[in-house]
Formats: sequence, C-alpha cells, structure tokens
Amino acid sequence: MVECEQGSTIGIFGGGQLGRMLVQAAHKLGYKAHIFDPFDDTPAGRIADKQTTAPFEDKTAVELFANCCDVLTYEFENIPIAAIEHAGRFTRVFPDKKALQTSHDRWVEKTFLRDKARAPVVDFKAVETMNGLSEFVREFGGQAILKTRRFGYDGKGQVKIRSLRDVKAGFARLGGTDLIAESFAPFIREFSIIAARGTNGDIACYPLTENVHKDHRLHTSIAPAGDPQNVSQEAQKITHRILDALNYIGVMGIEFFELKGGQLIVNEIAPRVHNSGHWTQNAGCTDQFEQHIRAITGMKLGNTTPKQIIKMTNLIGDEILHIDALSKKPNTFVHDYEKRDIKPGRKMGHVNTVIGVC
Ligand SMILES: Nc1ncnc2c1ncn2[C@@H]1O[C@H](COP(=O)(O)OP(=O)(O)O)[C@@H](O)[C@H]1O
Ligand SMILES: [Mg+2]
Repeated sequence: MVECEQGSTIGIFGGGQLGRMLVQAAHKLGYKAHIFDPFDDTPAGRIADKQTTAPFEDKTAVELFANCCDVLTYEFENIPIAAIEHAGRFTRVFPDKKALQTSHDRWVEKTFLRDKARAPVVDFKAVETMNGLSEFVREFGGQAILKTRRFGYDGKGQVKIRSLRDVKAGFARLGGTDLIAESFAPFIREFSIIAARGTNGDIACYPLTENVHKDHRLHTSIAPAGDPQNVSQEAQKITHRILDALNYIGVMGIEFFELKGGQLIVNEIAPRVHNSGHWTQNAGCTDQFEQHIRAITGMKLGNTTPKQIIKMTNLIGDEILHIDALSKKPNTFVHDYEKRDIKPGRKMGHVNTVIGVC
C-alpha cells in the first residue's frame, strides 16, 4: 500500500551529495523535497523545493520543518539523535533513531552486530586507558586498529597498532578517551551489500559490490562483482538479520571484509544510501536513491538486478575539472555534485562506466 500520496513532501536532514541524489529520486517519483542543513546553498538545497537553514540543535526550526514534511529521512549519520527524536514527535522518521543510535558509536554498533544480529565481527574492546589497550594487544596478539568510537569517517580517527610499542603514541594521537580497539582483519577484499527494507518488512539486496579504498577513502566500486569464494548467499543472510534486528526501513550500506577461505566479517553499517551504491544509477535497475524513497514512502521495492556491470570512480578534489572530457567518453556517466568550492580530498562527483553486460 502506498502510504505517501503523490505530491507529498519528503524531508531530508543534510544537504550534501547524498541528499541531492535523494532529491532527484523524490522528484522522479512525484514527491516534493525539503532539505534541512546548517549551511546555506547546499548541493541538495539548490535543487530541492525548499531548504531550511538552521542548526540541528534549533528545536523550533526542527519542529517547523517536521510539520512541513510527510516523512523524514537523513543523508548522513552524524545528525544529533535529539534532532531526530524531536522531529519524530511531529512526523515519521525513517530509518528510525535506533539505527542511528547503533551506528553513531562503533562499540555499540559492533556489540549490536555480534549479539543481536549474530553477524561475524572482529574481536573488539572499548578502551579507556593505555593499560586497557595493552591488554587487548596482548590478548589478541598481532595487529590492532584503534578508532574513535564516534564521528570517524573516511578513515579519520584511526591508527594502526602494530605491536605493544605503538600503544602509547596511538593512544595519545586519538585523545585517549572513547576509543575502540579492533583486531586487524586479514582480508583479501572488501565488498559491500546495499539493501533496502520496506515498511512491510520486504527486503531487497543488490548484488556484491567490490570496493577499493585509496588513502582510507572509497576510490572505486565494481558491481556486480565476481564471487570466486561463493560468499554472496551468506552475505545476504547476514544482511537480512541486520535489517530485521533493527526493524529497519530504508536503504542501508553494509561493509564486509572477505577473508581467504570465504569467511566473512562485517566491518560497519551505514543507515543511509551509500557511496558504494552509486553504480546502481546506471546499471539498468532501480537506483539506490529511488529505492530509499520507495522504502520510506511505503511503496513496493524496485528491481535490484542490474543489466550492466558498472565501475564507479569517485572524483576527488580537482579531478572534477576533467568532467568535460569524461562526459564525452562512450558508456560513461558523470555525476557532478555541483559543490561550490573544490577542496583537496573532497568528494566532488563520481563517474559510472559501463564495463560489461550481466
Ligand atoms: N579491523 C580492521 N581490520 C582491517 N582493516 C580495517 C579494520 N577496520 C578498518 N579497516 C580499514 O580501514 C577502512 C576504514 O575503516 P572503517 O571502519 O570502515 O571506517 P570509516 O568510518 O572511516 O569508513 C576500512 O574500509 C578498511 O580498509
Ligand atoms: Mg567504512
């Protein structure tokens, strides 16, 4: 049953590129889009029907925004929970705050994955003292990764601990509180599953997306990826358990490590559309942005079987200056986020190249 009528307004917290592509999908499906962002002139706000510019902490602005929207969603995780809670008093918010609370804190997230979703994760421990970190390194041997529990992204807030000798410097570098130590996963590749769960509990998974990171940041994704170790079914089973355990509604990105021998480890979950799902825009199936809007408005989920194999490459910093040449290449689709300022390391756009048929 369609819960949001045509012409309803979708509210989106966050005005970045993911918000922008959600606006495009909302418009395609006949909805209006309203962005909420602390900054003016955002990539999403510029093409939305409306933008509210206010801090997430501004309760009056959040209330007014929520009252204008038939359903609310968000495009990034670091929205204060209080804003989502407050908005939820006036309209529906999907995914709900449980998903956000889980992914806000890496320790809470890993504990949820292990205990509630029965998903395989690395050994991990919350770390508050240098002794605690030394104990972890001794107990689990080998290499560890020390991360901040909150606000990390694109590899920020992480240090590798190669041995007990690295403990002091690593601990100091990350500020020494609210940390998580993880054992190092000796993966042979990283992949993600982009999946959606609808209001009726239906789940649709896209095929495996193989991801290559450069400087801890996603560089390229290829999908559908090969599956020489036959792990796809298991990854989908784990995905179902995660989405069901959260009673999740919307699109989620789940990052996996694949080990030699086919063992899988879930690295992290993102309760939103995901950079590694951008290939879906040009693969001949429902794209992840449309899928998210379909899920949160109570529509039937779209087809997730691609017709073409796509290689997605992020355009970082001044790589965006090559878009004219890229656009002229055959089988190449350029997506420009139209950010005003080019900054080193900033995601400015992406290119989807058709590299084969399925
Ligand atoms: N426990 C781990 N073992 C091996 N590699 C890791 C581990 N944790 C993170 N990494 C590497 O660092 C990258 C970024 O870490 P991640 O936890 O996904 O943080 P972010 O939120 O910055 O994406 C991963 O994609 C992976 O390449
Ligand atoms: Mg990650």
